[in-house]
Amino acid sequence: MLRFAALLMALCCASLAAAAGEPAGAPPPINAKKLFARHCGWCHGAFGLAADKAPRLAGTAMTEEQVRARIEDGAPGEMPGFANTLSTEQVEALARYIKSLPAAP
Ligand code: HEC
Repeated sequence: MLRFAALLMALCCASLAAAAGEPAGAPPPINAKKLFARHCGWCHGAFGLAADKAPRLAGTAMTEEQVRARIEDGAPGEMPGFANTLSTEQVEALARYIKSLPAAP
């Protein structure tokens, strides 16, 4: 029991220390790869590189702006829209991430 309490304390203080390292008022950094894995990967394959239930995104002919619109609006019956799930910053980060993927298979 005591050991459990010590573990809790350690976890709590570690996260406090991590929070203290952030510049005051700065939003947490967006990890596009993680966002992609959580929201997109189950259809678009790992990291957008392999087509699974949906097209391969690496090397898409869409512009970054078109990719952003697609993420927000989705495609009826094909892909859900993420306008209510993701922030504008997250959508922008995902669009940049997709456009940064290598085009060659
Ligand atoms: C439920 C499955 C599903 C999920 C989840 C999903 N997609 Fe899609 N996505 C699709 C399908 C299917 C298509 C092809 C539809 C079409 O263009 O006709 C598509 C197409 C796209 C396209 C257009 C690609 C092109 O070149 O035409 C982009 C960009 C895209 N998805 C990005 C994303 C992103 C980013 C996420 C996560 C935020 C995501 N998708 C989540 C199923 C999904």
